[in-house]
Amino acid sequence: MTKDSTKTVAITGASRGIGAGIAEQCLARGYNLAICARSKPELGAGNAQVLSMVADVTKEEDVQRFCNEAVKRFGQIDLWINNAGILKPIGPLRNCESAEVETHLNINLLGVFHGTKSFANHLRSRDGEGVLINISSGASTSAYEGWGAYCAGKAGVDRLTEVVALEESESGMRAYSIAPGIIDTDMQSLIRSCSADQFPMVEKFHELKADDAFSSPEFVGRSLLDIAFDEAARPDEVCVRLPSGK
Ligand SMILES: NC(=O)c1ccc[n+]([C@@H]2O[C@H](COP(=O)([O-])OP(=O)(O)OC[C@H]3O[C@@H](n4cnc5c(N)ncnc54)[C@H](OP(=O)(O)O)[C@@H]3O)[C@@H](O)[C@H]2O)c1
Repeated sequence: MTKDSTKTVAITGASRGIGAGIAEQCLARGYNLAICARSKPELGAGNAQVLSMVADVTKEEDVQRFCNEAVKRFGQIDLWINNAGILKPIGPLRNCESAEVETHLNINLLGVFHGTKSFANHLRSRDGEGVLINISSGASTSAYEGWGAYCAGKAGVDRLTEVVALEESESGMRAYSIAPGIIDTDMQSLIRSCSADQFPMVEKFHELKADDAFSSPEFVGRSLLDIAFDEAARPDEVCVRLPSGK
């Protein structure tokens, strides 16, 4: 594969799981990479093409600092991926603590708003196009008992992305809300640790594990980078579901 050091990708929530998988694909293609999470991502330590930072997406100032530092290091950001997300609290809404639901929405929805805002303003500060990818889920369009906060947050991510796609098309932004499929990360381990009272569909997720019916983080990374940078892979819709793949 030809390496391309002219592109820069920024990813939130890249210390493990899907975010780390996307980051590895960026490095394989030679892209400049800015990554953050609440714990500093280890990937690319000592590599001048990688900027790794601690940032909490619930804090607007952290996200803006992450954006500013990436622009300072690499000149501009071509693709911004809001990947940071959590699943807790899991269980019937009637049993959920509102503080936990607030924390959840602060990460999964407000965090996406913060990243989207920083990137939209960055694009307006420079010439040329840019791509926004917000990581959604099948839970944005389907109701899963026990996942009230998660379903609400991801549905919000889809709508927020559709709005920004309209608002920012004139500034050269292409925006997508992408459900990545099912990937065997810490989030899936957490799902499998649930009781059927908390999450009635838990058995299906044990079956997925037994069948190894997961997409790989590498496949997700390759697919997202193709959507962003390969004209032939551009979806027509803002809200997209990836097929499964290894
Ligand atoms: N796995 C799946 O099957 C699946 C399916 C559909 C959608 N998704 C979505 O894909 C995304 C990644 O999920 P994953 O499965 O890779 O989960 P994961 O392995 O638990 O990774 C989540 C990442 O988000 C970061 N993060 C969490 N809270 C953060 C905060 N406040 N600020 C900054 N970073 C934060 C975590 O790092 P720190 O803890 O160090 O901050 C970690 O790097 C999520 O948006 C999830 O909803 C996953």
